[in-house]
Amino acid sequence: MSAIFMTLEILRPGDTLVVNPFIYGCSYRLLQRISARRGFKLIDLDFSEDSNIEKIPADTKMIFFETPTNPFLKSIDIEKVSRCVKEQNPDAVVVVDNTWATPLFQHPLELGADVSLHSGTKYFSGHSDVMNGVLMTNREDLAEEFGETRFYGGLVLSPENAWLTRRSLQTLDLRLKQQQKVCAEMKDFLNQQPLVEKVYYPKIDGKQLKGYAGILFFELKGDYQKFKQALNIFKTGTAMACVTSMVAQPWSGSHASMTDEEKKQINLRENLVRLSFGLENPDDLKKDLLGAFQVL
Ligand SMILES: Cc1ncc(COP(=O)(O)O)c(C=O)c1O
Repeated sequence: MSAIFMTLEILRPGDTLVVNPFIYGCSYRLLQRISARRGFKLIDLDFSEDSNIEKIPADTKMIFFETPTNPFLKSIDIEKVSRCVKEQNPDAVVVVDNTWATPLFQHPLELGADVSLHSGTKYFSGHSDVMNGVLMTNREDLAEEFGETRFYGGLVLSPENAWLTRRSLQTLDLRLKQQQKVCAEMKDFLNQQPLVEKVYYPKIDGKQLKGYAGILFFELKGDYQKFKQALNIFKTGTAMACVTSMVAQPWSGSHASMTDEEKKQINLRENLVRLSFGLENPDDLKKDLLGAFQVL
């Protein structure tokens, strides 16, 4: 969140900030909160619909999105969006929250974005024992701005967190490739379950998204609380993208800071379940899920 906070420091009163609303609920709320206080013009636009890319306003100063989106894992064309924004305003800042895609599988800066942002609390750490944020940029002016904001704002990682992150990065590739394998297998498994209405998994086009690790969504036919309580291996909590498999309800968790009306606007319902796969044996994970479906 502090990394997102730092990017917003670039904007000035009256600037136009465009956001795709299919993002982490707290990021959405932070953008609204800061925009209201500092007088930014905040515009919601779902440009995961290709036809909406041309609706991005000409005076856009910053554009913020996640791809694959959260929830539903829709893909947003980073190259097209960046081109459209820069044609109108070459100094505009394109910010991609690349947390879920990770630098292993998606490179926003190579596709025209200015900032690739990560919650290092997730895959970078992978062990739920670190909180950190990462900003990557290939623009000198932005690197200088971020450096100053970090220095004067004290938004600095502690030595212990930096050390733990470095340790975790040594296994990023191994962890993610295993999680990718398990997630793809679990997608097929879930698609065969009668109590699963729909599974959401991203499109791996090999061009923008070269692979995908371990988080998916599905719509459950049945009571989420009962389902969750019947699970043993999948844990509940805010952690995800870690070595432990996690279950969560975006409605009451990641998107709790959105109003019911805002959730409706992004088609988020209470029956949407998020699963994040860890490094457990996939057969054990399947047994755990089957047991939980049986209690419904
Ligand atoms: C995509 C994304 N970006 C940013 C954040 C914020 O991360 P942190 O909790 O490390 O501040 C999250 C947290 O869930 C997230 O999912």
